[in-house]
Amino acid sequence: MLENLIAQPADKILALMAAFKADPRDTKVDLGVGVYKDATGNTPVMRAVKEAERRIVADQTTKAYTGLAGDPAFGAAMRDLVLGDSVAAERVAAVATPGGTGAIRQALELIKMASPDATVWLSNPTWPNHPSIIRYLGMNMAEYRYFDSATRGVDFAGLIEDLGQIKSGDVVLIHGCCHNPTGANLRAEQIAEIITLMQTKGAIPFIDIAYQGFGDGLQEDAQITRQIASAFDNCLIAASCSKNFGIYRERTGILMGIAKDADQQKLTQQTLQFLNRQNYSFPPDHGARVVTTILNDPALRKDWEAELEETRNGMLVLRQQLADELRRLTNSDRFDFLAHHRGMFSLLGTSPDKVEKLRADHGIYMVGDSRMNIAGLNADTVPILAKAIVAAGI
Ligand code: LMR
Repeated sequence: MLENLIAQPADKILALMAAFKADPRDTKVDLGVGVYKDATGNTPVMRAVKEAERRIVADQTTKAYTGLAGDPAFGAAMRDLVLGDSVAAERVAAVATPGGTGAIRQALELIKMASPDATVWLSNPTWPNHPSIIRYLGMNMAEYRYFDSATRGVDFAGLIEDLGQIKSGDVVLIHGCCHNPTGANLRAEQIAEIITLMQTKGAIPFIDIAYQGFGDGLQEDAQITRQIASAFDNCLIAASCSKNFGIYRERTGILMGIAKDADQQKLTQQTLQFLNRQNYSFPPDHGARVVTTILNDPALRKDWEAELEETRNGMLVLRQQLADELRRLTNSDRFDFLAHHRGMFSLLGTSPDKVEKLRADHGIYMVGDSRMNIAGLNADTVPILAKAIVAAGI
């Protein structure tokens, strides 16, 4: 049997992680995988997470199964964090999932079940695991233009033109904030135009929000999601707690399905639980319990929000430092976009051979499409990167 296997394509982000690890140079700089790092290169356990874990370990009296949806308190806390009061609670079905990827996978399974002929529209570019899972599930997929390689902002005219092709029942995947990989984000009035277009076409929104709190702030980063969720009868939302709680390996995420009324919510909830049962039965509990503990305890929540703010501001400072340094070296404003982008990533907008040159000549690792993880920088490596960018002729 196993002789029939054929090698599957490597995920380019994970392959880069391995290549970085294998590089013996001690001057190497990792701007690859989307994991937050502080100035010393460490990915810290957040203070509130440590305290919540201490309490959980001290107080937990059982490890018995929770439920197929996970702990309902996690669902309620996350619904509040992501949606605020934009949608009535009785319209929201929710299940815990293994990370944001688990939520995306379950959402796609749901779409395939409910609407097997639907095309899922992805921004070009997008996180590579989006098309990979869609292809794996044998679903229809199309792309809409997103990135303007001249301005390094959003190509909104191209986006609107491409979304003009969507058919009734198609699904449009939108990054809730901090677009991965570009760092270029849609404005509220642009979202309003997309909503009107999608409503005219009868399309369904599917939001992937993995970096809430890394862009303009916890509430600000939820705006697009809330704006969209409140405008449609149906909407799917995959949210990750990996980054904003720094609990990557705990695999903590949630899939929310917004239904048009309470009856449809019941059916959606039952279906999401069925899908959890088929794929992995009960979702992981520990990370979800940590998140619930923090969100429901005012003091812990305050401390978590403060540390998240420090993280976010640290990335903004690095963005500004890099843009300033490049302004100084090039005597031009063509890298100012780095300070305007938001979230962990910026797409430099250069060719794979220049990215390879940065790796070979300077030990600077970024994804082949020129996506940089800004959090991989510090005050010492900003000038090194700026100099290397100029030396590579970018
Ligand atoms: C990334 O985009 O680097 C992260 O979301 C990590 C991953 O799983 O790819």
